[in-house]
Formats: sequence, C-alpha cells, structure tokens
Amino acid sequence: MDIINTLQNEFSKIFNHTHENVFFSPGRVNLIGEHTDYNGGHVFPCALTIGTYGLVSKRNDNKVLAYSLNFDKLGIIEFNLDDLNNCKKDNWANYIKGVIDTFKKHGYNIENGFEILFYGNIPNGSGLSSSASIEVLTGTILNDLFNLNIDMVEIVKMCQAAENNFIGVNCGIMDQFSIGMGKKDCAILLDCSTLKYTYSKLDMTGHKIVIGNTNKKRGLADSKYNERRSECEAALKDLQKVKNIKSLGELTEAEFEEIKGYISNPTQLKRARHAVYENQRTIKAVAALNKNDLATFGKLMNESHISLRDDYEVTGIELDTLVSLALESKGVIGSRMTGAGFGGCTVSIVKDENVNKFTENIKVKYKEKIGYEPSFYIVDIADGAKKLV
Ligand code: GLA
Repeated sequence: MDIINTLQNEFSKIFNHTHENVFFSPGRVNLIGEHTDYNGGHVFPCALTIGTYGLVSKRNDNKVLAYSLNFDKLGIIEFNLDDLNNCKKDNWANYIKGVIDTFKKHGYNIENGFEILFYGNIPNGSGLSSSASIEVLTGTILNDLFNLNIDMVEIVKMCQAAENNFIGVNCGIMDQFSIGMGKKDCAILLDCSTLKYTYSKLDMTGHKIVIGNTNKKRGLADSKYNERRSECEAALKDLQKVKNIKSLGELTEAEFEEIKGYISNPTQLKRARHAVYENQRTIKAVAALNKNDLATFGKLMNESHISLRDDYEVTGIELDTLVSLALESKGVIGSRMTGAGFGGCTVSIVKDENVNKFTENIKVKYKEKIGYEPSFYIVDIADGAKKLV
C-alpha cells in the first residue's frame, strides 16, 4: 500500500486538500486472438497488476482539474463540463473528457466537476493499453462518484465508444473489456460478436508470463490499424455476396477455404485469412489450456505470430526478432506479439528456471541486431478496474 500513501501525499500537495477515494485500473495483455475483436471473433486477454491509479475529490462547480504524475510537466489540466472538445493541448486529459462526454451522451448526469490525480506504471506506448486503462478508470470513477449504478459491461462499451468517436481510434472492444472485467489469475475468453465470456483459470505452475517490450517508438500505428480494419471489411463484403454472414468470425477454416476465391484483392484475402484462422486458433488454444495442455497452447501462440507476420503484416523486425530469439531460448512454451503490433510487446510463456537466462540472453542479442535493448516484465494477472479505498 506504499504507493497509495505516496499518491495521497501528492494529491494533497497538488490540490491543497485531501482526496476522497482511490481507484485502480489495470493494463492488459492478450494471450491469443489478435485482430479478431473487430472481426466478430474471440480474444483471450487478461488484466495485469500494473495499471493506472486515480485519486479523486468532487467539486461544487463544473470544473475538472486533472493532473498526471506521468506528465507532470503539463501541470494541472483544467476544463469545463460544458465544454468537452478533443483539443490537442489537453493531451492525455482528452481520455477523461471523452469518457465524460460519452457518459453524458448516454444520458448520465455528471453534474459536478472534480479534481483527479492519475499515476500509471504501464510503460507508455508499450501496447499494454495504458489509454484504455485511463478510460476504464475514468468510467469507474464517474460511476462511483455520481452513484450511477452502471453495469461494468456498459461502462466498457462506453469507454470503447469514447476511444472510437472522441479520440478517433477505431479499436475493437478487447482492451476495455479485459480491463473492466478482468479477474485475478484468470484469462477471459470473450466472443466479441455477442460479448459472451468465460473465465479460464490460468494454472501456470512452474511457468511465468514474460512480456517483452520492443521499445520501438510507434509512429503510424493508429492509421495502419484503421487500414487493417477496412481491409477486413472489404473482404467481408466480397464474401457476403455468396454467404450470409455478419462477420469473418462466423467462418470455420473449411468454410473460408471454400469461398475465399470471391475476395478479389490478394492483400484483403490474406487479412481475412488471418482473421478466420486466428479466431479458430483462439478457440482451440483455450480448449487446450482448459485441459492443462500448455504445450498445444504454446504451439498455437507461435502459429498466431506467424500469421500476424505473414498474413496480417503487423509485426516488423523488432517484434519478429524478439519472438525468434524467444523461440531459440530454453524453456519457452510459446511466444508471440501481443496487442495491435507495429512495435509494442511480445508475450511468452517461459519455464521458471529459465526466465533469468531468457531475459539476459535476449537483451544482448536483440541489442546487437536492433541497436537498443528491449525491456522485460514478469507479470501477474489481476482483477479489473475497481475502487481500492
Ligand atoms: C488494439 C485494439 C484492440 C485489438 C488489438 C488487436 O489493442 O485496441 O481492440 O483490436 O489491437 O488484437
């Protein structure tokens, strides 16, 4: 609880009075099921013990004063509840604005402003969803502060809408869902077309989940992401001429092979193939895990990476290098990129006794090839966003 004491002191220093409550919202890692969420498929993410803390205190007027210890140079960012526009100068606070705006548009009454202090320990730009973590944290805080009584799945949906409509990134629902609905020691199998979900206990006895950060600066990630989405939508349109489907996630591999010839553009065909096979892979991987067959799970993780590299083309030299170095290492059950790609992180399952050598060796070899070091985090799986104090 040390971190909470420190944050409580910071809050008093910055806002000259004490806070009311402390909230926490995790980051997430996806174990398998990449770029399937917006294709009506399955994902298998989990929430992490690293995330974002939020301390809040209600005001009597309609001003919001926001301060992040991660962006202390920006100082207090101030805005008014009646003037919720996305503006560049408000930087990270646009996520707060976006969520408030979406809540209001859904008819929820946010009548008072508040002071809010954020601190996150998710490495920025790592692809572990620091932005969705801030969004779901904001949603959870609003829900509590204004006694709105909103179900977490509804909060999750509104946070996704904020990202889509206010921020302008056309993401699927995976990040916000795993952050809102995460459960300690479990991953969530989510069917993104129906939002039906089940928790799978992750019994990793003897193994660790190791996240490898490429530390690559991600430039055009958002526009490339949106491009992949449109490519899949175009492929789906071609297939809908011959089959009555609403999404690529409805197809088995065999059904896809039968009709894939109707996709006229070869690039779009590859994108659709990834979406279909990755979805089926996810279902198989979770079935294997539920039978304690970690070896099959790992093999499917490796296949997922190959498909993201060759068919979806969202990896790049940094992610590919991290994964191939992982697969050369001893005690590795599986390794793949995680999240949107184009940089960001990999996720590997590594035997306990090999973890130290794994990170040491890869650091050296990755630096030789890429020019700078990767970072590694050994993570635990946590609950979704909640009030701590
Ligand atoms: C990002 C998006 C998610 C999902 C992944 C890829 O994290 O926010 O919705 O599409 O990429 O699986």
